[in-house]
Amino acid sequence: MISDIENKGVSVETSKTLHKIPIKAPSTVKVMLTGAAGAVGVSIVKQLAGKVDLYAYTHKQLDITQLAKVYEIIDEVKPDIIINAAGYTAVDNAQNDEAQANLVNHDGAQYLALAAEKINAVLFHLSTDYVFSGESDAAYTEQDLPHPINVYGQSKLAGELAIQQSCTKHIIIRTAWVFAEHGQNFVRTILTLAKNHSQLDIVDDQIGGPTYAGDIAKVIEVLINKLSGDDVSSVHYGIYHYCGLPYVSWKGFADAIIMAAKQGDIIDTLPKVNGILSEAYPRAAKRPKNSRLDCRKIAQVFDVLPSDWQAALSVVVSSTDFSLEPLTKPKP
Ligand SMILES: NC(=O)c1ccc[n+]([C@@H]2O[C@H](COP(=O)([O-])OP(=O)(O)OC[C@H]3O[C@@H](n4cnc5c(N)ncnc54)[C@H](OP(=O)(O)O)[C@@H]3O)[C@@H](O)[C@H]2O)c1
Repeated sequence: MISDIENKGVSVETSKTLHKIPIKAPSTVKVMLTGAAGAVGVSIVKQLAGKVDLYAYTHKQLDITQLAKVYEIIDEVKPDIIINAAGYTAVDNAQNDEAQANLVNHDGAQYLALAAEKINAVLFHLSTDYVFSGESDAAYTEQDLPHPINVYGQSKLAGELAIQQSCTKHIIIRTAWVFAEHGQNFVRTILTLAKNHSQLDIVDDQIGGPTYAGDIAKVIEVLINKLSGDDVSSVHYGIYHYCGLPYVSWKGFADAIIMAAKQGDIIDTLPKVNGILSEAYPRAAKRPKNSRLDCRKIAQVFDVLPSDWQAALSVVVSSTDFSLEPLTKPKP
């Protein structure tokens, strides 16, 4: 897994908020990825393979809660960039598993941040719309005060704060409602339900921006190129919001998934989709009603557009693997 390619190092001039990073061809940039078998991790591997010097670790290969192992591997690989796609993501389970959620999402993130700081690496980290309460009427900007309403959101916020305190060169991408052609996600849940039911009850009072994992991976590639290329002279570290547009409710998202499946001949008949209130579908963890992330900052600083989830949907729907174990209930 670990090649013995010598670390060439990145020469970095730093100021408090602005870092000039001169010229290093992207292909020679050494990138280490954690959580490589997760939904976002798989997309990042697909996107970066062959373009950077990639060291990808699954949970089995690197448990980010093992501090000594984290230091050992990072000291050995000496990456220029670390991408943390590992996380405790079982939102409902976290309510009764707070210690483990915090261990992964807070302590694990902090260990990576400390190890990145030690070798002057850049840390990319993924966070979530669930750091917000959802009570605002507007889309959340990076300036809005987080106020998580469930354990998962609290653990993710703790991870963000630990990274901000421990690692100078961090880029935290808050995203939302991630879907992909692989792994368990809302798209697969709806497709499975649509194949087996004539009516579905889907929550209609939670609004967010579905985000294609492949688009997150593309954004990360753009940022890596900017961090290592000579086309951009400055990079701002900090927090960025990145999700899909247009914003939609889970019911609206389900309608679009079913329509894409019909158009792609994945299903024969259209089930009736009934919109319901969150209260009618109680979950262990409360969800924010407003999950909309304002993505203007990342567009202004890095020139990337929000995820076009509608365009991604038809590709994902037609490549979704139904051989995986079916679910009996919709996710949100
Ligand atoms: N999915 C979403 O809708 C969403 C929305 C907003 C933000 N995010 C964030 O995006 C990131 C990636 O999420 P995802 O959707 O790709 O989730 P995912 O599919 O659950 O992937 C997370 C990966 O992390 C691994 N992992 C768990 N504990 C670990 C540990 N201690 N050490 C190393 N790896 C560990 C998991 O392995 P095992 O499966 O073996 O445990 C899994 O492969 C997370 O930070 C998440 O909070 C996701």
